[in-house]
Amino acid sequence: MRKIGIIGMGHVGSTLAHIIIDRGMVDEIVLLDVNQKHLTAESLDFRDAQSFLTHHTKILAGSYRDLSDADIVVSTFGNVNLTAKTGDRFAELKFNLEQIQTMANQLKAAKFNGVFLTITNPVDVITSVYQKTLGLSKTQVFGTGTYLDTSRLKREIGERFDVDPRAVSGFVVGEHGDSQFPAWSSIKVLEQPILKIAEERDIDVTDLEQATKRAAFDVIDGKGYTNIAIASAAAVLIDMILTDSHGEAIVSRYNDKLGCYISLPAIIGREGIVREIHLPLNRAETAKLKTSARSINEKTKLFE
Ligand code: 2OP
Repeated sequence: MRKIGIIGMGHVGSTLAHIIIDRGMVDEIVLLDVNQKHLTAESLDFRDAQSFLTHHTKILAGSYRDLSDADIVVSTFGNVNLTAKTGDRFAELKFNLEQIQTMANQLKAAKFNGVFLTITNPVDVITSVYQKTLGLSKTQVFGTGTYLDTSRLKREIGERFDVDPRAVSGFVVGEHGDSQFPAWSSIKVLEQPILKIAEERDIDVTDLEQATKRAAFDVIDGKGYTNIAIASAAAVLIDMILTDSHGEAIVSRYNDKLGCYISLPAIIGREGIVREIHLPLNRAETAKLKTSARSINEKTKLFE
């Protein structure tokens, strides 16, 4: 039996639950939220859709005890209003940390031993706190990181080069925040190095890094939160875990050398991070990655 738990029934949690239920990705889904009235309503709304769907999913408005045998638990809660107000995901840290201790302790008490996926911001720091509090292995706990930013960059490149974003490969690496950067030296469009094609076709890509970073805030500016793209990203990772696909994705995973959770590519499977992928970086990119790690480490230390 495939079973997942989603902590937080806000915009991200409910969109993710919708994707999972609609696609029939699991046999059982446990929804959790601090607001019981909201949780009951959300679960009822999902169950009211069940007769229209092609798959049956057992939907529970549950508690941490129900997560003891879950394959995956996803943390989606947060306070995006704080990010919106400041333009900085770190503004959510204090608020989110207070809740995490209680949640993680309850999950630990339930003896959860599956894969834990963090979406809650600031995701690199929060993932580290979850890993330590839950006492699970570093490969079992990881965050969505720059998987979303990478998709944003692919959209930007796709629009600039007039190709499907899926014809773009490569990654935005580092922090899911201001110090992230596209690893241009390995980004390809239609299997060709992007910098080569850009030169040949006289296309300027220098503004795409900022545009990618800004994308979250452009969305938040207009609708107050982001939910669709991040939930779609998480759904792909969840599928990789449930099917033990050994697919490649960029996620916030623990890096021994850098001493923090930071986004770099990995192979994802049933146990979580199955293998780390070495991404060749040029000298400038290596320096940027170290700066990004320093930024995450400094912010993490403030709250340890
Ligand atoms: C995003 O990048 C706010 O972290 C969230 O969409």
